[in-house]
Amino acid sequence: MNLVRFDTIDSTNSEALRGNYPEGTIITAEHQTNGRGQRGNSWNSKKSQNLTFSLVHYPNIHLADSFQISMVAALAITDLLKTFGIDSRIKWPNDIYVGNQKIAGILIENSLSGDSIIHKTVIGIGLNVRQTEFPSNIPNPTSMALCGVDVSPENLPEELLSRLTFRFSEPKQTIYSRYRDLMWRKEGYYPYSDAEGNFMAKISDVDIHTGRLSLTREDGITKQYYFKEVRALIASSE
Ligand code: BTN
Repeated sequence: MNLVRFDTIDSTNSEALRGNYPEGTIITAEHQTNGRGQRGNSWNSKKSQNLTFSLVHYPNIHLADSFQISMVAALAITDLLKTFGIDSRIKWPNDIYVGNQKIAGILIENSLSGDSIIHKTVIGIGLNVRQTEFPSNIPNPTSMALCGVDVSPENLPEELLSRLTFRFSEPKQTIYSRYRDLMWRKEGYYPYSDAEGNFMAKISDVDIHTGRLSLTREDGITKQYYFKEVRALIASSE
């Protein structure tokens, strides 16, 4: 395993993107000073308590197939958690939840060759391991420790890499059906919010290539959404 460990770095994803690292390199850090999350958010992680991991991969696939990388990353984390007895689900597109609480997040960043081939992808994973207290602005966090599992974050990169490698080797259809099986709120009507307001809907499809989510409302109308166009709502009592 080609593992590059930093004590302190701005962001393992930023380092993986700017460095000239070979295929399969893993960057980890005890502490990120500018850990980055989805939607331009920051990623908060207490020093040495969690896994902050970035994998460098050169997939040479079409940008239109980028959802495959998301599915592989999400499944690898659920696989890893399962070996510790933690039953997790994938909140579309790629947050990892235990019940209604987030235990891990994924930030995938690509550099393209031409305008449509993914030359390099950086799969950034933040997994809450030993942290039990979180800033109050983080909506619904949990961790392996809060799920009753005590493990050292140091032992996890190798485990996670082997699950990522396994999932990357699987046929796309297998990855997709496992992803669909493991979706959080995969059945039933739940509250969502889009540019027009709040509504109740159920997940009716996920596009295998683009990851576009289809939500069907109680009146039977279906709409499709790209990431960031819709948000699942969680009641504070849930
Ligand atoms: C999210 O918002 O849910 C995605 C969080 C991704 C965090 C990880 S930690 C390792 C890697 N480096 C970063 O700066 N972000 C990702």
